[in-house]
Amino acid sequence: MATERTLSIVKPDGVQNGHIGHVISHFESNGIGIRAMKMVRLTQAQAEGFYAEHKGRGFFGELIEFMTSGPVVLLMLEGDDVIAKNRVLMGATDPAQADAGTLRKLYAESKGRNTVHGSDSPASAARELHYFFSECFEIV
Ligand code: CMP
Repeated sequence: MATERTLSIVKPDGVQNGHIGHVISHFESNGIGIRAMKMVRLTQAQAEGFYAEHKGRGFFGELIEFMTSGPVVLLMLEGDDVIAKNRVLMGATDPAQADAGTLRKLYAESKGRNTVHGSDSPASAARELHYFFSECFEIV
């Protein structure tokens, strides 16, 4: 198993509902390390650039409006097989479909307000980490 890094985002609903600590604790208690972290409010341009692959989908406007509605916490996660492991810990995009005990089953309200984001592949993880943490790459 290879040590990998991936991006996690605690979305505005997770921050507003007071779940930052629960999310971080969930990662740490599952053997995942936090290598970088920051809290920011995304601008419209940052959110649109981040989710560029979804541009043109019916939910894009709603997604950008939600992701810029309040602060988010950006996390660089590290661990064995962490890209896939993070996606298992998050659960399905739609909390109604998510397995018991996953972050989205525990905390999410809907497909849109689904508490956490996680990179879905090694290529996405590399792109997404560079998008938000390029300034950190020398120190982690
Ligand atoms: P995320 O993992 O951040 O990646 C893209 C996001 O688009 C996804 O989580 C959902 O929050 C959101 N999304 C996907 N499908 C829908 C939908 N049908 N309606 C609203 N938001 C959606």
